[in-house]
Amino acid sequence: MSAFVVTGRALASRTPQETVLENVALLVADDGIIQRRAICGTQAYQDLQSSETLVHLPDDTLLVPGLTDLHIHAPQWPQAGTALDRPLEEWLGTYTFPLETRYSDAAFAATVYEDLVQTLLRNGTTTALYFATIHEEASLVLARTCIKYGQRGFVGLVAMDHPDLCPPNYRQASAQDALDATRRFIHAVRALPGNEAGLVQPVITPRFIPACSDALLNGLGALAAEMNVKVQTHASESDWEHHHVLERTGQTDTSALDAFGLLRDHTILAHAGFLNQNDRTLVKERNAGLAHCPISNAFFAGAALPVRDVLDEHVHCGLGTDISGGYSPSIFENARQAVLASRMLESGTNPEIPPAKRGLPNHRIDFQEAFWLATRGGAEALGVPSGQLLPGQAFDALELRCTSGSLRLSSQGSAASCAQKIVCHASPETIDRVWINGRLVKE
Ligand code: GUN
Ligand code: FE
Repeated sequence: MSAFVVTGRALASRTPQETVLENVALLVADDGIIQRRAICGTQAYQDLQSSETLVHLPDDTLLVPGLTDLHIHAPQWPQAGTALDRPLEEWLGTYTFPLETRYSDAAFAATVYEDLVQTLLRNGTTTALYFATIHEEASLVLARTCIKYGQRGFVGLVAMDHPDLCPPNYRQASAQDALDATRRFIHAVRALPGNEAGLVQPVITPRFIPACSDALLNGLGALAAEMNVKVQTHASESDWEHHHVLERTGQTDTSALDAFGLLRDHTILAHAGFLNQNDRTLVKERNAGLAHCPISNAFFAGAALPVRDVLDEHVHCGLGTDISGGYSPSIFENARQAVLASRMLESGTNPEIPPAKRGLPNHRIDFQEAFWLATRGGAEALGVPSGQLLPGQAFDALELRCTSGSLRLSSQGSAASCAQKIVCHASPETIDRVWINGRLVKE
């Protein structure tokens, strides 16, 4: 790819509470990294504007950073929008493990993953942190599909060996088998043709503590350190899961994961609604992060993650679709629902309780904060340099069309109201072009 300059109106978060809307010129170097940024009206802007390879965004569009999906189960895509009638512990055995078992067939995987990756790009997801399945071949198909379409993908071969929770036909036969498979998978992803720049990376993925033996969890912690690989898992997702781990280990998920060596730099804990303050402090100390999945939480968690506290304590956090515990592949939709869930947490929901006692005061987040979670929050949690359209960051960006239908933006609007409008009304229909690492991946 050769260097180019983009000019147009851009909206991005400076902090969770501050969004900026400016006419900018961005110089994107041939490695996909933004090298320079200049504001309209300056000499630097004029210099960039005279570039030979200029991409000028039309006045009725807006450039925003690409979105990060910090928690998605790729194999569950065929189930999205169905099967939400059971609690987590029944849903896994009744619907989800049987579906995931089908990925022993790599051809089936290819059909699903082709459709999913393209759908996510249409929805503006430029980085995705994926759970795949226990199948090495099918999980490599997912990694190859990300490379094919140019999506930044973090792909996890799922590790699960616990005979009490996992069915005989859907688990690794032993901790050692799961460790060997994970090690092979890490090497295989790193060696994939077309992946020389490391756009797609392997991730160590114990499904969650209830599905894994202590030997497997310990082994994966050691492997993460040895091979310098990121980790993802579910933590303190629901009352059932949280108490199951407390009973088994005598600790919360977060402390137990730390003891297993799994709470590391950029480890992502999905859901995390039942973390206590000590847990959150530990997550912060380890430079790990949380994937907030507000839609899924409405079905499985039994409680809402207090995102207000998470943001105020400066714990890394982004958004996850949790396909298919969540039904929507859109991070914009999850950003909306994050705002709604926080409002419900703040007000409480039972009208029979007096308002002063109904909820948890001061627990709302606003739309600018939701926009941050969707863009920079997720990227930062994962350690990806992108999400704000700043020099030194990858050019991962979306061009939104703001003239038609519900996303009609007033040209007089403030950055804050623009962020609100986008979170509420952006959809695949309003996303025109998508770039990842400087490469145009959707026109
Ligand atoms: N906990 C363990 N596996 C899963 C899963 O597939 N989805 C969700 N939401 N939680 C889990
Ligand atoms: Fe999940």
